[in-house]
Amino acid sequence: MVFTVAIDGPAAAGKGTIARAVAEHFGFAHLDTGLLYRAVGALTLDGADPVAAARALDPIALEDGRLRTAEVAQAASRVAVIAEVRAALLDFQRAFARRSGGAVLDGRDICTVIYPDAEAQLFVTASAEVRAERRWKELREKGDDRSLAEVLEDVRARDARDSEREAAPMRPADGALLLDTSEMSIEEAVDAAIAHVEAKGGIPRA
Ligand code: CDP
Repeated sequence: MVFTVAIDGPAAAGKGTIARAVAEHFGFAHLDTGLLYRAVGALTLDGADPVAAARALDPIALEDGRLRTAEVAQAASRVAVIAEVRAALLDFQRAFARRSGGAVLDGRDICTVIYPDAEAQLFVTASAEVRAERRWKELREKGDDRSLAEVLEDVRARDARDSEREAAPMRPADGALLLDTSEMSIEEAVDAAIAHVEAKGGIPRA
């Protein structure tokens, strides 16, 4: 059985949580594609060339816990504007999308570029202020003491870079369900996503 759920949206909109819950509900595999860009970004902070790093990327690098820092997020969004970096990461993502047993991919360009034929498509968003507050709380739990204002500035800088770049800019796909989670609890957002996937023919795991 092949079935693909594609989820796009900006930083800290809730994509990752929704993607993991959908994958669990339907018994699908999950790929957080942001980790690919974060892994390449982290290598560039160590001095690597971004295109060479993307071409040689080893999936084991995705398990590095340091990829979740704010510094790596900024480095990721800088390498993500490079068309050759995106091209080097394309085949891996497309193959994952079509793996047997079903797949959920979350990122910025899954519906628009990586797999426009995905059976179920969502664009998950929320206001920049709400997203910054969510990310600020996450970072604080990890011992990062940057201020809410700084996190908001980071979120806005990445939003601008992600949506204004020429290579695969972030935008909602025509057929995607738009889910604004600004005023939703995570449970409500997950329920809405699951209902959409079921409406598109996804069958929950027994
Ligand atoms: O978790 P968060 O939403 O903050 O970020 P992420 O999904 O891990 O993505 C980090 C950065 O990678 C983003 O700001 C994008 O610039 C880039 N990215 C991308 O260009 N395309 C994707 N499919 C996924 C991430």
